Amino acid sequence: MTETSHRPSGDPAAVPSPSANEPYLVVDELTVRFPTADGLVQAVTDLSYTLEQGKTLGIVGESGSGKSVSSMAIMGLHDYKRTRMSGSIRVGGQEVVGLSSEKMRTIRGGDVAMIFQDPLTSLHPFYSVGSQIAEAYTAHNKASKSQARAKAIEMLDRVGIPQPKSRVDDYPHQFSGGMRQRAMIAMALVNDPKLLIADEPTTALDVTVQAQILDLLQELQRDFNSAIIIITHDLGVVAEMADDVLVMYGGRAVEKGPTREILTHPEMPYTWGLLSSVPDVSADTDARLIPIPGNPPSLLDPPTGCPFHPRCAHRSKVPGDLCRTELPELVTGNRPGHTKRCHLANPDSIYEAEVLPEIAPDLVEVVAEDATPAETGTGLFGPDDEAADGGSVAPENR
Ligand SMILES: Nc1ncnc2c1ncn2[C@@H]1O[C@H](COP(=O)(O)OP(=O)(O)OP(=O)(O)O)[C@@H](O)[C@H]1O
Ligand code: SF4
Ligand SMILES: [Mg+2]
Repeated sequence: MTETSHRPSGDPAAVPSPSANEPYLVVDELTVRFPTADGLVQAVTDLSYTLEQGKTLGIVGESGSGKSVSSMAIMGLHDYKRTRMSGSIRVGGQEVVGLSSEKMRTIRGGDVAMIFQDPLTSLHPFYSVGSQIAEAYTAHNKASKSQARAKAIEMLDRVGIPQPKSRVDDYPHQFSGGMRQRAMIAMALVNDPKLLIADEPTTALDVTVQAQILDLLQELQRDFNSAIIIITHDLGVVAEMADDVLVMYGGRAVEKGPTREILTHPEMPYTWGLLSSVPDVSADTDARLIPIPGNPPSLLDPPTGCPFHPRCAHRSKVPGDLCRTELPELVTGNRPGHTKRCHLANPDSIYEAEVLPEIAPDLVEVVAEDATPAETGTGLFGPDDEAADGGSVAPENR
């Protein structure tokens, strides 16, 4: 695949879908680079995943791991003149890498919508909140002014804005931070998108509103069979919402698979670190909270070999200097649909013997017996948790 620093002259919209039966979203070897005065920022490297309609993918990883940059590429939001992008992203069979901005506009906000990490990114300060939601609606639907206004009020009501009929004419600065977040969610949902990318959608919200918003996303999925990508630091949200999980580190996929697998049998030390640094990973109050030592890697000058090696406590278990010299491939893990990028030969036994006792001593026995997550009482999965059913995102082995 060739690297493009600007839009190719051909119109990818004219290129037929490689397969009519492929998943709704196919991200294939996506690489995103930003040339800067300090050098080339290697924000996303060789990222591949797929997502079916009606399914939810959770993307997790520390700050700067490429979660937002890779998602914004799906929305065609990178400035082609300042970005080097290669690989392929197909949405509903349509290639979007290199798509003209006019074509991208017809998709964005309609079939594909995004809830941004920062509400101010998508709300214009000079226009009322209601008019912006109404405009997002009329851009993709034939509707009169009054119908669009009624739709805006309905959406504000759906996301829990009190007195939506009077608040519809407010400007963004008249809304609190949480209300702005909800207004932006209303705007993203107004056209019932087939693919919704929710980038930290509930971070600024209190627990009750957070639950409402997550319900709303699930309702959207039920009613319209939407595919959802949810980017979050909250593994509780992942457990509740996601069929599958993609763990990113230093711009790369380092572990992927069904949510239940990733949360109960993680095979990559970075994922172990994420789980260890979550306070509610265990119902056991004695469980320790262990932050991952060190800092995320520089994307200007990423480490050689495994990008996690400077911070990894388990690299000495890999023979020779492999962790420092050789990038592990993303290979199939010990269970179906599970892939991981790590040289360790026996991750399960290390996890059970060394990592799990540090996280939650009470879980060791249960996980060793390969019990269902509901039996572990981890707090991540309840007995009725649908996420425990696993999912159907088909992570590719690379
Ligand atoms: N336009 C840009 N120019 C240069 N570097 C960029 C640009 N946009 C993002 N980056 C860099 O790319 C890397 C990945 O950023 P990204 O926003 O995807 O991180 P993230 O995983 O979403 O983190 P967070 O959890 O903090 O939101 C970061 O190092 C960021 O500084
Ligand atoms: S490849 Fe080596 S450094 Fe990387 S996570 Fe596995 S053990 Fe740690
Ligand atoms: Mg981000």
